[in-house]
Amino acid sequence: MDKLICIAEDSRSQAKILHETLTGRGYAVVLAENGLEGLYKVNEAKPDLIISDVEMPQMDGYEFCRTVKNDRELKRIPFIMLTLLSSIKDVVKGLEAGADYFITKPYDSEVLLSTVESVLKREYSGNGTAGPVSVHVDYNGDMHRFEVDPQRIMNFFCSTYENLINQNQNLFFTKQELKRLNNNLEEKVREKTRFLEEEIAERVKAENAIKDNLVSMRKTLDGTVRALATTIEMRDPYTAGHQRRVAQLSRAIGRKMGFSQEFVDGLEVMGFLHDIGKIIVPAEILSKPGVLNEFEFNIIKAHAQAGYNILRGIEFPWPVGAATIQHHERLDGSGYPHGISGDTIIMEARILAVADVVEAMATHRPYRPSLGIEIALKEVIENSGTRYDPNVVEVCKTLFETKEFTFE
Ligand SMILES: [Fe+2]
Repeated sequence: MDKLICIAEDSRSQAKILHETLTGRGYAVVLAENGLEGLYKVNEAKPDLIISDVEMPQMDGYEFCRTVKNDRELKRIPFIMLTLLSSIKDVVKGLEAGADYFITKPYDSEVLLSTVESVLKREYSGNGTAGPVSVHVDYNGDMHRFEVDPQRIMNFFCSTYENLINQNQNLFFTKQELKRLNNNLEEKVREKTRFLEEEIAERVKAENAIKDNLVSMRKTLDGTVRALATTIEMRDPYTAGHQRRVAQLSRAIGRKMGFSQEFVDGLEVMGFLHDIGKIIVPAEILSKPGVLNEFEFNIIKAHAQAGYNILRGIEFPWPVGAATIQHHERLDGSGYPHGISGDTIIMEARILAVADVVEAMATHRPYRPSLGIEIALKEVIENSGTRYDPNVVEVCKTLFETKEFTFE
């Protein structure tokens, strides 16, 4: 036969939880909303166990318990009190009233069920084995004196102890759960970090690939520039190597003047291409020994504009077209094709102009032998500040004087 449990609880939600917990484990349950109703139900149904709240209207849990334990017929029914155990007074009052067990709120349903099960397994005489003893409790200045069954004191200590163990276990489980959550969190952080590291590595790889690509594109550009220069030089054997040497000198001047690597790389390309417009000049004029007439010289002069026309369609990272058309312009406006002057001439073209003149005079031409580097330098030094940029001339002069640079 199912064991019958009487519950006295004024909170409907609490009563519902208790009812579901106990019926779920196969117990029969009668509910009462307060001590008075509880007493009525207990008298009527004679349950195997009473579980009662403390704070209730009409008749509280202490009074309910006391009345049951003073009843000759009912006192054998074990009485469990649900208490907050917030003060020692509650405990003393519970013991005075005759409660057998205490369950502290909030309770775990498994603890409640195990307590109920163990209480129901025991034989209850309601008198204990040794009979009631007189107990004095002196706590916090209050003196309590009451008669209590030693068995009930033991029960009380056991139930309190059980509660404490349970609370400790809960604390332990909470700590375990917290630890598990922390570990999870750490693992997630590690995972995220790994992911980020992989992403960074991928980006570095991609950036390196772009850099490699850029290097390879520069190499291609460099090769194309040299091929173009060679094409011109093949038609004009007397200026063979002219562009290459102008490129080298321009580069040396740019570096000595403190320009960036990028700027200096551009100067080299401009040096290689500045005379590309000579493709429009007939080979016989280019290789003609002796002095050119005005007509022939005008054809030669057209090479600056022609070079610009060829190069303007190519997207260089440097102003190659502008430098090409300006490399025969002079600071005082005496140059060609447009006779521009001063700052209108870009720095690259001013460097090219000096390198071009020095190289041309210092090497053999179809119409004369080499004039030598000293005569070449004298030309630019004498016209420094008028035709040529004085800073460029100064640096060029130093490069040769210190032998930091010589033509191959
Ligand atoms: Fe030229």
